[in-house]
Amino acid sequence: MTRVLIDCDPGHDDAMAILYAAKHLDLCAITTVHGNAPLEHTTRNALSLCTLAGLNVPVSAGADRPLVQPQLQKQTLHGKSGIDGAEMPEPDRDVTGEHAALTIIREAKRSPGELVLIAVGPMTNVALALRLEPKLPELLKGISIMGGSTTAGNVTPTAEFNLWADPEAAAAVFDCGIPVMMAGLNVTRQALIGAPHVARLHGTGGPVGKVMGDLQDFYATRSSAVYGLAGAPMHDACAVVPFVHPELIKHRACHVHMELASPQVRGTTVCDLRVFKSAPAAAARTQLPANALVALEIDGAAVVDVVVDAVLSYDA
Ligand code: RIB
Ligand code: CA
Repeated sequence: MTRVLIDCDPGHDDAMAILYAAKHLDLCAITTVHGNAPLEHTTRNALSLCTLAGLNVPVSAGADRPLVQPQLQKQTLHGKSGIDGAEMPEPDRDVTGEHAALTIIREAKRSPGELVLIAVGPMTNVALALRLEPKLPELLKGISIMGGSTTAGNVTPTAEFNLWADPEAAAAVFDCGIPVMMAGLNVTRQALIGAPHVARLHGTGGPVGKVMGDLQDFYATRSSAVYGLAGAPMHDACAVVPFVHPELIKHRACHVHMELASPQVRGTTVCDLRVFKSAPAAAARTQLPANALVALEIDGAAVVDVVVDAVLSYDA
């Protein structure tokens, strides 16, 4: 069973990704970061979710702001709390007191070469961990992120929220020396939770189905009102899918550049998907070596089904 650590900013879709991962994988720790809401909210939401589902997983809080730029809170999709739309239980546990970056390093050292780091929020904690422990890339089995896009963005015409929220952190991750598995908006927006899935969640009659059904109903309504999406996008679960249902997602190795300088496209992932049969000298010179495995295809409907199935199991 793959050992994973999830760094997140719960977040309606973060919550589904956590439950899906905890059901199928060895989830050793959860770390929280600023993003969908301020850190104190995302941390409380992670603690409440673990309480709701009875997860025996330690939660460590991390960065409350980006590495360099000021906090640019833009997310309205998730509401003021970061997880509006349901009655979340009072947490029955507290954070570990260890900074998230130190938790990431400690858990990687505990099983060298075995831990997969799954980052589904702004990557500030991951970047801090990379700076504190330069050997972290060799200590990890891999890094899988929800972030970026090979097509349009969501916060700007080309930038996706997680990477836009801390582009310097994202650049450090893409430059860390091991390939980053990237699930961008180009695939995650194909995994949409709609009314039938909400009905399945509510149909369990149990506490997890009730809360998660209410949350996804809220998130679907907001996603439709703001972006015209036909449901609640399971963005973050798409970063977990490769380790549970790899047949549902396809990646291609390519170079990804994180744009930092240009104000119009700051935070954009520039994915070099060009294929040269016989590379003309000039083109070969400009094509940088692959530093990422970018998801290009996904069976979105099947992803939603397996994620919902996992969540239903908590009330079984
Ligand atoms: O752009 C989608 C990402 O932003 C997801 O991780 C969602 O939870 C929000 O953080
Ligand atoms: Ca998230």
